[in-house]
Amino acid sequence: MTEVNTPEKVEFSPETLKKAQEIIARYPEGRQKSALLPILHLAQNEWNWLSAPVMDYVAGLLSIQPIEVYEVATFYTMFQIEPVGKYVLEVCRTGPCCLRGAENIIDYLEDKLGTKVGGTTSDGMFTLKTVECLAACGFAPVLQVRLKKEDGNYIYYENLTPEKIDNLIATEWV
Ligand code: FES
Repeated sequence: MTEVNTPEKVEFSPETLKKAQEIIARYPEGRQKSALLPILHLAQNEWNWLSAPVMDYVAGLLSIQPIEVYEVATFYTMFQIEPVGKYVLEVCRTGPCCLRGAENIIDYLEDKLGTKVGGTTSDGMFTLKTVECLAACGFAPVLQVRLKKEDGNYIYYENLTPEKIDNLIATEWV
């Protein structure tokens, strides 16, 4: 599967470690846990998903217990705690998006990708998920994707149609 690994020895790259240390330094001694969310985002960007060794490494960096990391990583849907594809397509399934055809978009993606919600395509390119309101209801239906080239930021794709999906798969998510 693409960009998925569970290295025996987990360590941030020097550039990522520098960013992590800058973030941790924003908080007083003994309050490093406050940096947990941004550090988890850095970790996910580095390894694509948060394996147990990765979460243990984050706990060590922040001088907290691994369980404190697991609790947070398993609570937020944006953190991937199982291997995922290169692109994780997170389709909003809340009311306004449903009224504007989100269920059709989900069905279309399942057919097009050949995988159900929660699954990953056999080539490791796409994981399909559903999420709650992405706060872009005026542009429904909406999905978000975390793109490496955008340094881990999420990009929203709005007013989705099957034609837009076809175009994105052919030209943008490659
Ligand atoms: S309901 Fe989909 S973005 Fe709010």
